[in-house]
Amino acid sequence: MVKKTGKPGNSTRAKALVSMAQQASEKYLDEIDVDMGDGYTLVYEKPSEASMNYAFEITKHNMQELYEQAPEWGWYDDEKMKEIKSAKQHTLFVHHEGQRRGICCLRWLTENNEPVLYLYEIQLEASACRFGLGTKIMTLVEKLAMKSRMQKVVLTVLINNVAAVEFYRKLNYTNNEKLDKTYSYRILSKKIKPDGDVELKYQA
Ligand SMILES: CC(C)(COP(=O)(O)OP(=O)(O)OC[C@H]1O[C@@H](n2cnc3c(N)ncnc32)[C@H](O)[C@@H]1OP(=O)(O)O)[C@@H](O)C(=O)NCCC(=O)NCCS
Repeated sequence: MVKKTGKPGNSTRAKALVSMAQQASEKYLDEIDVDMGDGYTLVYEKPSEASMNYAFEITKHNMQELYEQAPEWGWYDDEKMKEIKSAKQHTLFVHHEGQRRGICCLRWLTENNEPVLYLYEIQLEASACRFGLGTKIMTLVEKLAMKSRMQKVVLTVLINNVAAVEFYRKLNYTNNEKLDKTYSYRILSKKIKPDGDVELKYQA
């Protein structure tokens, strides 16, 4: 799905930055502790059977119908579970009163020869939507990209996911590359200014 273009000269530097970020990922992730207000927190949990099953179920619940409406996508349980359990993917959890209420899945990778933090999922339960939690989670994602010296946050959104398209546009995400109009998704991104000193533990 990802088209590899960009300047070849940047490739080695981008790969080196991503490799450094991946090596330091546990350190960054363990530092994350965001008090999002009203009893909601955002933290990193190491993968477990229970946490991965939760991540799968909330994604399936929120996305299956939208995926199935997209001609070149479709929903496949095995593929999604494999993606969620991949060692390359890191999952943050929204907690509220001792329960999980949402997830945010991330990978450090190169995209078009740029070092990026790729948002694979942001999923909230319906009861947690429209309180500003999504916006607060994206602020943390952008700070994590700054801290790990990535150039962009990149994500894929289905055009039929009207709420998500609206959400990312409001947060100033724009098309990362020109895709044929017939595609049922867009790749969006936002440029990030690296800042190794940014705090990942704070009250939002
Ligand atoms: C998309 C999602 C993460 C947004 O999180 P959220 O906490 O509900 O969003 P926020 O409250 O921070 O909203 C910020 C802005 O996004 C836009 N927005 C969010 N939800 C919207 C909706 N359902 N309809 C239209 N605009 C919406 C609005 O502009 C909103 O600003 P406003 O509240 O001042 O109008 C959340 O709705 C969600 O998990 N949805 C289901 C899963 C999903 O689609 N994930 C994205 C996959 S790419």
